[in-house]
Amino acid sequence: MKGIVFVELLKMAENLLGEAVVDQVLDDTPLSTGGAFSAVGDYPCADLVALVGAFSRVTGLPGEELQRRFGHWMMNTFKTYYPAFFEDKPDVLAMLEAIEGEVHVEVRKIYPGAELPTFATERLGPGELRMDYSSTRPLVPFCAGLIEGCVDHFGRPATITTRDLSTPGQARAEFTIRHDTP
Ligand code: HEM
Repeated sequence: MKGIVFVELLKMAENLLGEAVVDQVLDDTPLSTGGAFSAVGDYPCADLVALVGAFSRVTGLPGEELQRRFGHWMMNTFKTYYPAFFEDKPDVLAMLEAIEGEVHVEVRKIYPGAELPTFATERLGPGELRMDYSSTRPLVPFCAGLIEGCVDHFGRPATITTRDLSTPGQARAEFTIRHDTP
């Protein structure tokens, strides 16, 4: 996984817990790097999972909830660094449809070696999209948070349902995003 993901997770944790607690967690958690992450590095996803687990123990928040919050946080980061991806999309459903074929395609150019999930989308009706997520990384709640953050960005309320179909070693989920009003 790209260093930017780790740097942003640690920023969110500092925001939530303060720098001293985060430093303590980095000292106490067995990590491949010994606890130093650079925005331009590459690190195993297992380190992310270990950090989320450690922050979950410290905060008492379930790991899924932390991943989801991190998805919101990361969506804000993407909006700040890469506003152009959002500007030419008419609505959230168009944005979500463009992740697999456009946004993540560009991400691979900006971040060579990026480990990205696979998405398949299908319009279920005028204001309703199904988005199927598949990844070898266990990040379904993170993905849900990104989708929620994306809905918030476009400002039109929608209901998101998540069906987590993950099995060990293979994460899979069906998301449905439906606008509340036609
Ligand atoms: C709602 C829209 C988006 C969704 C649902 C989404 C989903 C995801 C997910 C779930 C991951 C984690 C990797 C995995 O699960 O295998 C990921 C990674 C990533 N995404 Fe997206 N993404 C979205 C938009 C964007 C945007 C706008 C950018 C902007 C550049 C972006 C850049 C990245 C990067 C850099 C990574 C990390 C890759 C790595 O660590 O190797 N994504 N995305």
